[in-house]
Amino acid sequence: MKPTNLVVRLSGALRGRVRVPGDKSISHRALLLGAIAEGRTHVQGFLPSADCLATLRAVRALGVHIEEQSATALVIHGRGLRSLQEPEDVLDCARSATTMRLLAGLLSGQPFLCVLTGSPQLRHRPMDRIVEPLQRMGATILGRDGGRWPPLVVKGGDLHGISYSLAVASAQVKSAILLAGLYARGPTTLHVPGPARDHTERMLVAMGAKIRVANSDVQIAPAHRLQAVHDLTVPGDLSSAACLVVAATLISGSNITVEGIGVNPTRTGLLDILQVMGADVTLRNAGTTNGEPAADLTVRSSELHGAKVGGDLVVRAIDEFPILAVAATQAHGTTIVRDAEELRVKETDRISTTVKELGRLGAQIESRPDGFSIRGPTPLRGTTVRSHGDHRLGMALTVAGLIATGETVVQDIGCIADSFPGFGDTLVHLGGHVS
Ligand code: S3P
Repeated sequence: MKPTNLVVRLSGALRGRVRVPGDKSISHRALLLGAIAEGRTHVQGFLPSADCLATLRAVRALGVHIEEQSATALVIHGRGLRSLQEPEDVLDCARSATTMRLLAGLLSGQPFLCVLTGSPQLRHRPMDRIVEPLQRMGATILGRDGGRWPPLVVKGGDLHGISYSLAVASAQVKSAILLAGLYARGPTTLHVPGPARDHTERMLVAMGAKIRVANSDVQIAPAHRLQAVHDLTVPGDLSSAACLVVAATLISGSNITVEGIGVNPTRTGLLDILQVMGADVTLRNAGTTNGEPAADLTVRSSELHGAKVGGDLVVRAIDEFPILAVAATQAHGTTIVRDAEELRVKETDRISTTVKELGRLGAQIESRPDGFSIRGPTPLRGTTVRSHGDHRLGMALTVAGLIATGETVVQDIGCIADSFPGFGDTLVHLGGHVS
């Protein structure tokens, strides 16, 4: 059995070149859109994490043939928009809200019955944000407590386009509605109150869907067919690279390069925040594959100062707040994060779990209703901390352990494989003291 704790010690400079696993959001979308495209999608750089493997199993259960040529190379034999099959059993989305929300959108256009369930953690993630608009489009979709919580029952069918204003700038909600919009009579228009990641739109456009984007509005036209992208290369996940970027920034003398990272501007909020704080991150070898920009990130250690973070930057860095909090503990001055109440409904309430666990390490961190504030620089002291089953918190605490005196034990690290299998080994490769 794999150990469930990581033991981390104060580490010297990190050095070297590494790759991180493929982007989680793009890997999910490659499976879901590859499934309904016509033709074969050859995916390279797929992320074989627990979350994406839940999507893979669900797509297979819908009748789609997927060859796993290796852990990261797949061939998806698309069935076209209207040939998915009713699954025999419930679809288990494990801990992945992306799987559940995007699937619910896709299944709203299918004329059969599906039940979507998942881990206890996922069964406490809000679903009314997708249930309500999908019902408005004409899908029959039910969940516990009037549609608020999973499991969800979806019976799709005759959909019509809607004009809808999202209450939160969520890419999962936007994507669920866009996927349903492929099957609707008439166009579907969304107003999104912030720059939520746009991987779905980029991949749909590459497959021939008609999407118009104007400022904060996205419109999708009903589709007759999608054409498979023959070669789909998934860039490295910036949210995984973020932990290495912060570690190298904080540990004096570090100089690392993380290769082939997706730098879609809807995802690079953390890099912008770190730059304002004084970090030394350079992008090299920039290119674009299948409409997604990627680059190598070179990071040298540097002194940081505190920053104020709010508004659109929060949306563009939505998964990076636990690791940003670690960076802020070492920055001179106060870092204040506001407008980030969405963090309360992630894998954990990330405001309260981040404040609690970094507090144990000696950070001067306080929660606010919509974020947190941190005073620095503060020396961290090694102790025992817990991931609470949240992969991003588990990784952030591991990075905190690299700069804390003595030994830090991060408990319950199995969840790290939800997005970054091999995280500990990657740190060891760079010289981190992790076992
Ligand atoms: C994701 C969107 C984000 C993000 C999540 C992945 C996606 O969630 O936090 O990890 O792949 O669409 P929201 O869209 O709900 O903010």
